[in-house]
Amino acid sequence: MIERKITTTFYIANYDELTVADQVLINKAKEILESAYSSYSGFAVGSSVLLDNGKTIEGSNQENVAYPSGLCAERVALFYASSKYPESMINTIAISASSKSFKIEDYISPCGACRQVMAEYEEKQKSKIRVLLHSPNDKVLISDSVEDLLPFVFRSPFLKRF
Ligand code: THU
Repeated sequence: MIERKITTTFYIANYDELTVADQVLINKAKEILESAYSSYSGFAVGSSVLLDNGKTIEGSNQENVAYPSGLCAERVALFYASSKYPESMINTIAISASSKSFKIEDYISPCGACRQVMAEYEEKQKSKIRVLLHSPNDKVLISDSVEDLLPFVFRSPFLKRF
């Protein structure tokens, strides 16, 4: 048996240490929290995506009485961004959360399905997507690539035909 280790790199910054562009993107993720349709969980998530054409697209989580029919904020934003600007590359995604029912003390961490979707776009555009995870205490976790957040990602070569 061989032991292998995976290490990952990420950065922690204060909101006020960020570039203005990153601050703006986080503000947009926070603003869109208002539109979350999250009455079943009481947990609102906002996401904003910066494209290489300079446009930003925001999304919030959209829940449903048939629970699995709902969708996370990240995928709402990413799917809309890719639908509206299919030729554009995604530069950065910012994510924030708020809740009246739960105490949120740490970074909102994107679920596995959202990471898989981010990884797909990273592979499609052949360039890295930065990820900004905003914490209510105004600390921000920064990852330079989705790959760093999802080891053993399922990639398109797995579906290569004979
Ligand atoms: N949620 C997101 O929108 N993004 C995440 O990264 C994690 C969870 C949503 C799904 C559901 O509407 C609520 O948060 C509680 O899980």
